[in-house]
Amino acid sequence: MIPVKIKSTIPGPKSQEIVTRAMEVIAKAQYAGLFGIAVTAGKDAYLTDADGNTFLDFLAGASAVSVGYGRQDIIDVYARTAQKIQHSCFPYSPNEEAIQFANKLIQVTPGDFDKRVLLGMTGSDGVDAAIKIARRYTSRPGIISFRGGYHGVTGFSLSANGFSGLQKGLFISSDFVMADFPRTEQAAETTLAAVEALLKEGNYAALITECIQGDGGNVVPPPGFHKQLAELVHHYGSVHIIDEVQSGVGRSGAWWECQTYDLVPDILCCGKAITSGYVPMSACIARAEMAQTLDKAQHLFTYSGHPPSAAVAMKVFDIIEKDHLIQNAVERGEQMRAGLQKLVDRYAFAKEVRGRGLHMGFEVYDDRTNTPLGGLFAFRCAEKGLYPGYFGSKNEVMRLHPPLIVNKEEMQFAVDQITEVCEEWDTGTFPQQTIQNYRQFGVGLGTD
Ligand SMILES: Cc1ncc(COP(=O)(O)O)c(C=O)c1O
Repeated sequence: MIPVKIKSTIPGPKSQEIVTRAMEVIAKAQYAGLFGIAVTAGKDAYLTDADGNTFLDFLAGASAVSVGYGRQDIIDVYARTAQKIQHSCFPYSPNEEAIQFANKLIQVTPGDFDKRVLLGMTGSDGVDAAIKIARRYTSRPGIISFRGGYHGVTGFSLSANGFSGLQKGLFISSDFVMADFPRTEQAAETTLAAVEALLKEGNYAALITECIQGDGGNVVPPPGFHKQLAELVHHYGSVHIIDEVQSGVGRSGAWWECQTYDLVPDILCCGKAITSGYVPMSACIARAEMAQTLDKAQHLFTYSGHPPSAAVAMKVFDIIEKDHLIQNAVERGEQMRAGLQKLVDRYAFAKEVRGRGLHMGFEVYDDRTNTPLGGLFAFRCAEKGLYPGYFGSKNEVMRLHPPLIVNKEEMQFAVDQITEVCEEWDTGTFPQQTIQNYRQFGVGLGTD
C-alpha cells in the first residue's frame, strides 16, 4: 500500500500562508519554490505538508535524503554524540568522529594514492576548497568549467557556476572561463578542442565538472568524453576536479558517478547525501600533495569536523553498505528507465529519459506549442501524490532523484503517475487549473 493522501489543492492554504510569511522575512535570493508547498514532516520515503497532504518523495530534499526520513537510529547517533561533546571546533581540537569519517571518505573514493580531506558544511564550500587547492598547487589562476554546470553560490563555487544568471552584478573574475557541455559526439569534439586551446595557454589551474550535469537538466555527455577531457587536463599540468555534490554517495548506482566513467579525479567534492539531510556537511577529498599546498588555516571553519555531524555521516555510510542501497539504486533506476522509456517511445513530447541509477531526468517538451513541460508535469504529479523536482535551463526536465530506499512498488507508483500525466497531456485532458497554479506558484532554478 502506498500511503499517499491528497486533501487540498496544491499548494493548500496553510502552505500558502507559510510561504507568504517566509517571504516577509527571508530574502528572495533564498527561495526557488517548486510547488508553493511547505513540508512539515517526513517518514521513510514520504513527505507531509502543512495541509496534511502526504507525497511519495522523488526529490529527496535536492538529492540529499538518501536513507530516508525520520530514522531513529540516526537521531540516536546524533544525540549520543552531542551528549558527550556537541562541539569542539575541530581545527583547534580534533575529534575521533571526524577522523573516522575522513578515513572512510579516503577509503571509498577512487584513487589508490595518499589523500587528505577538508570538511565543511555545504557543497559550495567543498568546491571552494578544491579551487583553492588547485590554484595553490599549480600557482595558476585560471579555472575552466561548463555552461549549465552547477557548483554552488559561495565565492569560488559561484564563479565556476555555469548558471550565468546567478552571477549577475557580482563582478566575477575573468579567470573563470566556461566551455559548452556536449550532448553529442560532434559537440564533444568541439568542446575538447576549445578546452585544449585554453589549457595550452598554460594559465589554467583546474577544470571542474560534474559527470552528468545535474541542475542543468541531468545532461549526459557522450561516452568517452570525460576520459578524453581528463587526459587533456593532466597533459597540460592542470588539476581535474569532479563535483559529486549531487551525484555522489550511491545515487548513480556506484559510490561515485565518476566510477561509472572509469575516472580517478585529483579532487572530488561531495556534500548533500553524505549526511542524508540530518545535518549539513560537505567534504573535499584531494591528492595529499595537492591538498598540503594550502597553508595553515587557509580553509577551516568553526564547524568543520563537527563531532555529531561526522558521527551521523559515518552512520549514513554504514546504512548504505549494510542495506545494499547502491544495488537498490541500480535496480530501481533500471525499473524507472524501462517505465519511462515506454513513454518516450509513445509520445513526441517525451524526449528522453537520462541518467544513471537514481540520478535520473525525464525531458518533456511540446514542440507544437513550444512549451517546456518539466515543471508543469512535476506540478501535476504533486497533485497526484508524487513529489518530484524539475530543472534544466527552461525547467524542461523532471528531476527524479528519490531516496535510495525507494522500493519496487513505490517506483511503480511513480511511473504510473508520470504515465497518467503524459496521457492527460496527449488527450487534452490536462487540467487548466494546474497550468494556472504552476504559473502562479512554480519558481524553480530555470532561468530562460
Ligand atoms: C553539483 C552541485 N555542486 C554543488 C552544489 C552546491 O551545494 P550546496 O547547495 O550544498 O552549497 C550543488 C547544489 O545543488 C550541486 O548540485
